[in-house]
Amino acid sequence: MSKIVDYIEWLALMRVFISDLKDHVGQTVELRGWVFNSRSSGKIKFLLLRDGTGLCQCVYFTGECEPAALDVFPQLTQEACVRVTGKVREEKRSPGGFELGGLSLEITAPSVDYPLSPKEHGPDFLMSHRHLWIRSKSQHAVLRVRAEVIRAIRDFFDGRGFTLTDAPIFTPSACEGTSTLFETQYFDEKAYLSQSGQLYMEATAAAFGKVYCFGPTFRAEKSKTRRHLIEFWMVEPEVAFNDLYDNMELAEQFVEYVVQRTIKNCAAELAALERNTSGLANVLAPFPRLHYGEASQIIKKENPDFVIGDDFGGTDETIISSKFDKPVFVHHYPSAIKAFYMKEDPKEPGSSMSCDLLATEGYGEIIGGGQREESLQILREKIKEHKLREEDFAWYLDLRRYGSFQHAGFGLGVERTVSWICGLGHVRETIPFPRMYGRHYP
Ligand code: 4AD
Repeated sequence: MSKIVDYIEWLALMRVFISDLKDHVGQTVELRGWVFNSRSSGKIKFLLLRDGTGLCQCVYFTGECEPAALDVFPQLTQEACVRVTGKVREEKRSPGGFELGGLSLEITAPSVDYPLSPKEHGPDFLMSHRHLWIRSKSQHAVLRVRAEVIRAIRDFFDGRGFTLTDAPIFTPSACEGTSTLFETQYFDEKAYLSQSGQLYMEATAAAFGKVYCFGPTFRAEKSKTRRHLIEFWMVEPEVAFNDLYDNMELAEQFVEYVVQRTIKNCAAELAALERNTSGLANVLAPFPRLHYGEASQIIKKENPDFVIGDDFGGTDETIISSKFDKPVFVHHYPSAIKAFYMKEDPKEPGSSMSCDLLATEGYGEIIGGGQREESLQILREKIKEHKLREEDFAWYLDLRRYGSFQHAGFGLGVERTVSWICGLGHVRETIPFPRMYGRHYP
């Protein structure tokens, strides 16, 4: 009999996460977490507890809780780790809609002089304390949005018959030009950290038809801009028999899906970031499409220094995107400024069958892609023109030797997309531990 009573008591004192409190109204539960803040007001003491899944107010009344719990209050410091027990009740004014009528309170690990006090800190200080900064409300919200964006990306492709075929990180050669390659030792040989999984997706597209890879990519870019990271995550679909126009259609459906799902599922996080999402609600396919020639005329009017034939800078992209309330595709960039694998349009010599997608509100390019060159002979010439070594691409050329096929794909950068959706000023906040030019700590 007493065993049954013990069991019932144990059940009643289940350890739960704050996000699950709704399922335990009326029950006595245990919460574990960190002190967000605490205050006293006469016979009542309040502890705001953070456990990563939410915030919960725990209210301790003299006479209703264990007396020892009240003695703990003066020792509560920001981010001390605590264990509390109490009864769950609905309370609309509490952050998550529920609060705990506190019974016991115990500090399980202290936190002395927590460096990130609620006052303002500069970006350098915050980046040096990134391992702690991620506990803050704003960073927590951004990283939850990132997680949802990633779930949406996977669901979109998994739900449309794509096969995930991840690309290697150690690679023998460049995909996106030799100037941004990270060289590393691979036993007695040289290897490079992957700039893009694309070339491998072209191989798997011939094996599976519709494929994608999703992983970290690396660019040794010595630029300190709000859009550049050294290590960033890219999702890269590739589809057999698609052309440039099919590719843009896929990209716009994909971006619409990711944005609409994220603003719906992350409404609370975006509200915490004070993001006005009315503009994002308009991110619905189809998106406008501009030929590079048209786009460069628009830029030239507002930026006379722009040289037609060059790639767009950040300001140029903003000029274009400010003309539209939806993301805009720019296609047919000059072949001379695009990678060796881009197909040159037979109807328009000198222009590549490439497309970039520029986000709204000045966030710039979030997608780069296009149709691939499928002719063995032309590809060999392009490799030579780009001063690359043909032997490094022998396997890639095989794809043109054995049943070459029309195909197209693109890469979407996760951090730029999250930065745009969250309305942030810099991509560094969109990845748990950013790698930037001049910083790889912590
Ligand atoms: O335009 P990119 O260089 O395209 C490729 O790498 C193609 N091989 C992809 C493909 O067709 N499979 O990069 C694609 C996207 C950019 O639009 C941008 O969103 C992101 O990757 N990106 C970066 N994000 C953060 N920091 C950087 N340094 C980035 N470089 C590119």
